[in-house]
Amino acid sequence: VALVALVSIKGAPGVTTTAVALGSVWPSARALVILEMDPAGGDIAARRGLSGDPSLVSLAAAVRRDRASDPTRLLDHCCELPGGLRVIAGSAAPTEMGTAIDVVGAALPHLALRDAVDVLVDCGRLNSTPTGSHDMPGSPPITSASLVSVLRSADLLLVLSRGDLAGLSHLEWWLPALRSVNKGLAVLLVGPLSWRTEEVAGVLGSPVIGHIPHDQPGADMVGSRALRGGAARLPLIRAVRGIADRVVAWLPILVTRDAEAHEQLAELDAVATADVRP
Ligand SMILES: Nc1ncnc2c1ncn2[C@@H]1O[C@H](COP(=O)(O)OP(=O)(O)OP(=O)(O)O)[C@@H](O)[C@H]1O
Ligand SMILES: [Mg+2]
Repeated sequence: VALVALVSIKGAPGVTTTAVALGSVWPSARALVILEMDPAGGDIAARRGLSGDPSLVSLAAAVRRDRASDPTRLLDHCCELPGGLRVIAGSAAPTEMGTAIDVVGAALPHLALRDAVDVLVDCGRLNSTPTGSHDMPGSPPITSASLVSVLRSADLLLVLSRGDLAGLSHLEWWLPALRSVNKGLAVLLVGPLSWRTEEVAGVLGSPVIGHIPHDQPGADMVGSRALRGGAARLPLIRAVRGIADRVVAWLPILVTRDAEAHEQLAELDAVATADVRP
């Protein structure tokens, strides 16, 4: 069971698209749920024509009434996307999201263990929320305390950024605060790259787990049908396959979170960044 949180800092580098794409290629031996926890409001329901119930909001209501005799199950609040991918979609309304994130965020590690599922959490954009806590040391108010607790409890925190100078400048500023929240952090670059991924990793001092190319046809297809045949050859889908494999390989190392593990990760990172050279 693993919790993987995906977050961005600025712009819309493709957190939601990447979360769904990673879910579509997740190893079939591992049960998985995608959880949409973007405080600015969810996009998956509108994009994929889901009804809005069940959703993160129904899950939050169930968590509030959770009893040993009637335990809340993540799997009872999922919709299925084509290909069988299970998604707990957020509400489009930020007010509903704020409350639901407070309730579900605290219970999430426990809920994932109860159902023995991996959870990929779309945490949205860090600076997109008007209501802030000062929970992240050394940084301005950025997001709700509940969402910070999700970032902290994740086994792996994937920080998405554009790979150009502007994207990397924002990333460089944010990384110390993000690392103080979760040391199991890796950067995922999206779109055109101005530098090789290993150079980026060296400058940022954080592992770069991979690179997703700009691929609008690939992005449009994500979540709309099973990714077989021609779709599997689209650049975005090929890239997320490599990243899903690396996430699963890195998890056991990250979960132990000791010094030796981080050395092993640095070695793996050197291998991973060598494979994803643009
Ligand atoms: N790798 C990609 N290549 C091309 N287009 C992409 C890629 N990833 C996402 N997109 C497109 O970019 C737009 C934004 O994507 P998405 O909603 O996933 O971003 P986001 O980071 O979740 O944004 P927000 O913070 O607003 O929720 C969408 O139109 C999507 O189709
Ligand atoms: Mg999004």
